[in-house]
Amino acid sequence: MAKIIVVTSGKGGVGKTTTSAAFATGLALRGHQTVVIDFDVGLRNLDLVMGCERRVVYDFVNVINGEGNLNQALIKDKRVESLFILPASQTRDKEALSMKGVARVLEALKKRFEYIICDSPAGIEHGAIMAMYFSDEALIVTNPEVSSVRDSDRIIGMLSSKTRRAVQNMSPVKEHLLITRYIPKRVNSGEMLSVDDVKEILAIPLLGVIPESQSVLQASNAGVPVTLDKNSDAGQSYLDVVARFLGEEPPSREKKGFFTRLFGN
Ligand SMILES: Nc1ncnc2c1ncn2[C@@H]1O[C@H](COP(=O)(O)OP(=O)(O)O)[C@@H](O)[C@H]1O
Ligand SMILES: [Mg+2]
Repeated sequence: MAKIIVVTSGKGGVGKTTTSAAFATGLALRGHQTVVIDFDVGLRNLDLVMGCERRVVYDFVNVINGEGNLNQALIKDKRVESLFILPASQTRDKEALSMKGVARVLEALKKRFEYIICDSPAGIEHGAIMAMYFSDEALIVTNPEVSSVRDSDRIIGMLSSKTRRAVQNMSPVKEHLLITRYIPKRVNSGEMLSVDDVKEILAIPLLGVIPESQSVLQASNAGVPVTLDKNSDAGQSYLDVVARFLGEEPPSREKKGFFTRLFGN
């Protein structure tokens, strides 16, 4: 059964697009047929992070409006087999993603892919609701600071009230906490919330912690998902997140350093 996973947060700039690209790439690296969809209508960020911006001809909104078909709009990744991108539209019409249209596209994708990753726009309005509405699971991307945690809390409330699963009284969207841009030094000095603080406030299961890393900006400037950079600590952490998502034990590298305190042995 295909799984729809939304990457959401409420707040902007916390790492949703970075996570969507890295997570989708990680799943595809493990051999899973994966597509990542940019729901951020008007901004088009994911195609840059994935390095396929020059190949965009048709986009998500074109497919919804019947101006192009799904095969025309899907971009196959150059590097990773079984990874595809459905880019966002540049249109300024934020309502371009109709509920019916999104449902139709997702149904078609479900026939072809195992994992459908939905990169949500910031905020709690139409675009963010469309990105989460049909989800089975959610990665809630949170930075260890009060404003981000507060917005994540709001998003958790919406996941349990504004999604198809909630509306149709199905089992709830499965939630995963992903703490990103984590700087252990700033936690120790009290400038940042600790992993335990964030876990306690949000009270959802922790899937992983991604450190703040220079390599993320470098990767995104180069149009390479950070999970493809073998020398990147953030990239390696994202691979661990994928492994854990797939039900595997945390790899041994997490037993060292600050991860010991997060996950124990
Ligand atoms: N782990 C990280 N370390 C350093 N910079 C990061 C990290 N994650 C994201 N960033 C940077 O933060 C900015 C916002 O990230 P992005 O993924 O676009 O967030 P969002 O999609 O939530 O708006 C980008 O400049 C990105 O490179
Ligand atoms: Mg984004």
